[in-house]
Amino acid sequence: MNTHLAPADLTPVPPAPPLGPVRFGQRLQRALQRLVNRMGPPQFVLMDLVAQRWRADALGALVRLGIADALGAGPMEVDALARRLGLHAGATYRLLRALAREGLLVEQGRAFGLSPLTEPLRRDHPHSMANMILELSCARNAHLWARLSEAVQSGDGVWETFSDGNLWTWLDAHPDEHAAFHGAMRELTREGAPSFARAYDFGRHRTVADLGGGTGHLLGAILAVHPNLRGVLVDAAQVVAGAGPVLAGFGVADRCEVVAGDILDGEIPAGLDVYVAKNIAHGVSDALLAAPMRRWRQAMRPDSVLVLIDVVVPPDGPYLGFLDLQMLLASQGGRERTEAEFATLLSANGFALDRVIPTPAPMSLVVARPA
Ligand SMILES: C[S@@+](CC[C@H](N)C(=O)[O-])C[C@H]1O[C@@H](n2cnc3c(N)ncnc32)[C@H](O)[C@@H]1O
Repeated sequence: MNTHLAPADLTPVPPAPPLGPVRFGQRLQRALQRLVNRMGPPQFVLMDLVAQRWRADALGALVRLGIADALGAGPMEVDALARRLGLHAGATYRLLRALAREGLLVEQGRAFGLSPLTEPLRRDHPHSMANMILELSCARNAHLWARLSEAVQSGDGVWETFSDGNLWTWLDAHPDEHAAFHGAMRELTREGAPSFARAYDFGRHRTVADLGGGTGHLLGAILAVHPNLRGVLVDAAQVVAGAGPVLAGFGVADRCEVVAGDILDGEIPAGLDVYVAKNIAHGVSDALLAAPMRRWRQAMRPDSVLVLIDVVVPPDGPYLGFLDLQMLLASQGGRERTEAEFATLLSANGFALDRVIPTPAPMSLVVARPA
């Protein structure tokens, strides 16, 4: 798999941003956006909102074609850029011009450069979102989202578009998309990990497992912030194969065991203090989570703690609603849950909800104990 890491994957865990100012900034941004939306004639504002999809595809092309990386050293003249990357010069110009006139690139005659907003499209940017942009703009997701109306009619996902298996088996058979998906998760988790690692006092424990922990970015951050902890990373073999450089980058490889295992159908490491599962529950229905969660419960000690990290849908106000729709389309009956829905899921499977800890990221820690 592609284990290319951005420099930020290899640096110490930065401080978590403060919750209050982050929330204030988000509220301000939304208020300004609502104001902007009211300023134009609704028919054109609406069209512009829908055309965001075109922008997403154009930005995806910048990453996919290597243009963003090529512009990393500074603006380039379009014919030289097209020659270097083997692209059609006229079409490349039209792509770059379209983005530049939206303020997303800097345009100087026939030369184009990245703007501060598009710098993170580079793979070597400290906060690179290159894989996330690839993932969000990939053909698989375009096909799935084109079937949203069907999913809303039936209430079922449309994953059978691609296979009768699930996302994970499909990704295993498609190396480029496997790399983009897990790279996207690593990028997303990298940005939230400083907050997640400090939001809960992991430091009062000795051992922590990350179930479905991907390439180990969250566990790496938790272990780096809490030097007394030892960790166990569990995920599919093809995924944990990419964990070595991430854990080494955090300087925690000697305190972390890496286990290739099945967290839904197999056994998990027994008797640890804390079990974290980030963005796992939201991909699986309550019914399909029942057996695994009961097995997790059996593997835990009575005083172990389960920390699910996911979106917690608030009673009102904003949340990652489009991620919930992504789960509707492409997961095994997964959904973003309210606090009450988490409480029901937990109590049905041998746990009691202890508390929900909000973070500056759009996800919260749902802390539970064996009931
Ligand atoms: C949405 S990703 C989240 C990854 C990581 N927790 C994070 O937030 O960055 C879900 C992860 O669960 C893993 N996964 C899914 N089903 C699994 C299974 N049955 N056993 C082990 N890992 C699984 C996937 O390989 C993937 O890494």
